[in-house]
Amino acid sequence: MTQTQEEQKHAVAQAAIQYIPTGSIVGVGTGSTANYFIDELAKIKHKIDGAVASSDDTAQRLRKHHIEVLDLNNVSELPVYIDGADEITEHLHMIKGGGGALTREKIVAATAKKFVCIADQSKLVGVLGTFPLPVEVIPMARSYVARAIVQQLGGRPVLREGFITNNGNVILDVHGLEILNPIELETDLNQIAGIVTNGLFARRGANVLLLGTDNGIRIIDI
Ligand code: 5RP
Repeated sequence: MTQTQEEQKHAVAQAAIQYIPTGSIVGVGTGSTANYFIDELAKIKHKIDGAVASSDDTAQRLRKHHIEVLDLNNVSELPVYIDGADEITEHLHMIKGGGGALTREKIVAATAKKFVCIADQSKLVGVLGTFPLPVEVIPMARSYVARAIVQQLGGRPVLREGFITNNGNVILDVHGLEILNPIELETDLNQIAGIVTNGLFARRGANVLLLGTDNGIRIIDI
């Protein structure tokens, strides 16, 4: 039976619960799929010790469910981080940041032992780059970074109008990239002064993908 995109998101959010060890602190992502996950997490909140949020929106939703939100600096161990993606490959490299939370997402993902990505089937791609690559930039560096991206990468950066990140920065969405080597591009972008974070999650990709499909959940585990 065909499942809608929303049903697929809900199904993978439910399935992610089994990756949470009892008594652990859970890293929680941002976005519509992560929101389904937060609602599922609320049902087992008595089994966890709290959560670390990757954005203010996520923190707010967790608190609404009376799940304790902890400062990452006070957490010594984070067994699992659960989040969505804008695009993901079979190698579990991702583009993230459609919701603008990429910097905190990358920090929480880096801290976590295991990254479980939850996504509907539309997110699985052969090559990353159809979804414009979000790049978080210090506001004074906006023009410099945009020029560097055009000259060095041939991408077409577009300022995300009217959007400021939780860290007080702006986002450039880079169109027109065909990302054949995501680890290399992630590394190169990190060298441009003024870029805080780029939305490639390849150096630290996901460990597991729970992909919602018309035929149920497909698991890719590497
Ligand atoms: C937010 C993100 C999200 O994980 C990504 O945008 C996917 O969102 P959704 O689950 O709503 O499709 O990176 O910064």
